Amino acid sequence: MKALQGLEEPPVLGHQGRMAKTTFSCSACGASHSRWSGRCDGCGEWNTISQDVPLSAGPAKKSLGGKRGQSITLTDLSTEETPPPRTLCGVEELDRVLGGGLVPASALLVGGDPGIGKSTLLLQAAARFSRAGVKTIYISGEEASAQVRMRARRLGLEDAPVQLAAETNLRNILTTLEAEKPGLAIIDSIQTMWADNVDSAPGSVSQVRAAAHELTTFAKRHGVSIVMVGHVTKEGQIAGPRVVEHMVDTVLYFEGERGHQFRILRAVKNRFGPADEIGVFEMTGKGLAQVTNPSALFLSERGTPSPGSAVFAGIEGTRPVLVELQALVAPSPHSQPRRTVVGWDSGRLAMILAVLEARCGVPFAGLDVYLNVAGGMKVSEPAADLAVAAALLSAREDTALPADTVVFGEISLSGALRPAPQTENRLKEAQKLGFTSAIAPAGGKTGTVAGLTLTRPSDLVGFVGETFGAG
Ligand code: TYD
Ligand code: MG
Repeated sequence: MKALQGLEEPPVLGHQGRMAKTTFSCSACGASHSRWSGRCDGCGEWNTISQDVPLSAGPAKKSLGGKRGQSITLTDLSTEETPPPRTLCGVEELDRVLGGGLVPASALLVGGDPGIGKSTLLLQAAARFSRAGVKTIYISGEEASAQVRMRARRLGLEDAPVQLAAETNLRNILTTLEAEKPGLAIIDSIQTMWADNVDSAPGSVSQVRAAAHELTTFAKRHGVSIVMVGHVTKEGQIAGPRVVEHMVDTVLYFEGERGHQFRILRAVKNRFGPADEIGVFEMTGKGLAQVTNPSALFLSERGTPSPGSAVFAGIEGTRPVLVELQALVAPSPHSQPRRTVVGWDSGRLAMILAVLEARCGVPFAGLDVYLNVAGGMKVSEPAADLAVAAALLSAREDTALPADTVVFGEISLSGALRPAPQTENRLKEAQKLGFTSAIAPAGGKTGTVAGLTLTRPSDLVGFVGETFGAG
């Protein structure tokens, strides 16, 4: 504190509250005055003196004040509530992702990359729901009604009782919805909507937020289910669907690789059902077709077992899904070897490589590592760890894993293996698809699955030894 010696004491702030004295200061030179005058004595400027805003007198009149509101009725947690009636559209993959059908007066967001098939999916859904007796309105802000009609014809849906409009003015849309009283309204897309009380361009964060807020409030107040489409955007100027995720009841993402025909509709948030549920579709020349047995589809491209391939028995939402993991390990020409992952977390790959190296003595230094989840699927379960390790080791040792074997289990940093949830369901699915053996960590409830040979290593070293000899 020595350095401060000799400095003047900081000025003490005056007692607030007790007769706060009004002061004035000049905006040109900063001189303070005890009363207002037209000309500043300090600098001689005219009309530069104004009254000071008192220092922190607390938020002035920002609170609601003392005026009373109405008291609200409180209920306890045990009050009986009839579950909302749901409408099924008949496309099982869609109904399941919705949590068992469409809930009235709910707001949904369907996000996805441009061109992935959102408009196609929603037009098909609109047709289904309208045929199921829900009055449905489809409002496109991106395409002319004629374009939407053309797509409907291509999809063979031209006779579905869906009402169409091309409009971007939110006020007009809300007025129309209020008059028409539909059960379901689809807004394609939220980024093209324009609220005239917000002073910024369509697609900006404030416009997208305002439009989503208006539509969500409208949905609740008028008992309409509103589906908003949101494009995932790469550049910052257009707001992405993330900015409205917190407002809506349900958030679905439509994913897939452009080059693949598979599309996955994934529930990332659902106030009326389980999240993490997926629906699998295939993009065909006549629109999206549902895939009721995704495991068979994801494995259909699999040829004879080859080094680097492992089948992971995963769980997506409530359903087991088998996918093929493919690894390639090759000597690296670069000083820093490559680590490339498609469909899985790259941080998790680094972790598994480190565990294999530190606990099992299998080095990957100087080797490029590529990992791919076949079919454009994304896997996020930690239970895929062991299947990833199996694919990596199989690629590195150039040894194919035993045919018709599924692998799953979580790897911890110590090299121990942890059982995965729903082990029994995974095994049943594998057995159903004709697999004859499974490698899964010891522990966990398995039950007995007929016709399936189980190998149950307790740690990674044991797994490496059993599956690849001494490693
Ligand atoms: P679209 O639904 O317009 O995508 P989004 O609304 O997400 O931007 O669909 C875009 C792609 O889907 C387009 O490239 C063509 C393809 N497609 C088909 O393969 N089959 C079809 O029956 C339809 C309607 C579209
Ligand atoms: Mg579209």
